[in-house]
Amino acid sequence: MGSLLSIEQLYCKAPFLAATQTFLSPTLSYLFSKTRKTNVMSKASTSFAKSCYKDAFPLVVYCTNHTIKQTDLQKELDEVTKERSPWPYMSGAPEVLTFGSNFIKMINAKRILDIGTYTGASAFAWALATPEDGEVYTLDVSFEIYECFGVPTISQAEEFKKIKPMKGPALKTLDTFISEGQAGTFDFAFIDADKPNYVNYYERVMVLLRSGGVIFVDNALWEGRVMDTAKYSDEATLGIDELNKKIFEDDRSLSALVNLADGLHIAFKI
Ligand SMILES: C[S@@+](CC[C@H](N)C(=O)[O-])C[C@H]1O[C@@H](n2cnc3c(N)ncnc32)[C@H](O)[C@@H]1O
Repeated sequence: MGSLLSIEQLYCKAPFLAATQTFLSPTLSYLFSKTRKTNVMSKASTSFAKSCYKDAFPLVVYCTNHTIKQTDLQKELDEVTKERSPWPYMSGAPEVLTFGSNFIKMINAKRILDIGTYTGASAFAWALATPEDGEVYTLDVSFEIYECFGVPTISQAEEFKKIKPMKGPALKTLDTFISEGQAGTFDFAFIDADKPNYVNYYERVMVLLRSGGVIFVDNALWEGRVMDTAKYSDEATLGIDELNKKIFEDDRSLSALVNLADGLHIAFKI
């Protein structure tokens, strides 16, 4: 008997599902609508929001209109991610990716750690920003979504060859890099995978980065939930809040918590 398709495989093999869910069973239809509910979230009343949210705060839209720079393939990947992938808003906000690309160029970063791949938007942005001999190690537990939605678009770019997918729990991959003697050899890191492990990722990345290297921690505001951990005491919110506090007090780095998209904590390794 054939095995059941995962939600990722369903979306990949039948992209029209995202647009027309009418023939689905009520249960599946409910599940899809739940996973895509951020599509219609209104953020008009908050100043912390990705610019791509519908009704984003006007000041946010103004800032991002004067920040985001994307190639045609990046725009195409955004469209595919938004229209067809199961969790469209998992993708890094274009304003964060532009900002990170600027840092990569300014510090001449060549070796990049990209923790959390999804469709590959961040990995692709870093690949475009690094020089010809750049290497972008993108870490994820699964590359089904990347291969289905990201690779067909981004493989058209020459820079695609710089992306090196590393499959498995990110902590394990980072520990392997450390045990292989790669400490101090990376220039830039983007932390954007499971939030309860944020502090653990930061600690490993601090070892793997060279002095002068830069860390971007995405979703550092978590839609504002980090401001009220009594009310939002889930593992993800607590994990992010713990890392925000740790970075602020960490004398191994200089840092700034920035109200960009869903929050960005930047740390510069001394
Ligand atoms: C927010 S998405 C990454 C988005 C991506 N950085 C971008 O900007 O397009 C988070 C990803 O982390 C992956 N993930 C979750 N837990 C993980 C773990 N323990 N180790 C590695 N990857 C994990 C998920 O599979 C998902 O693809």
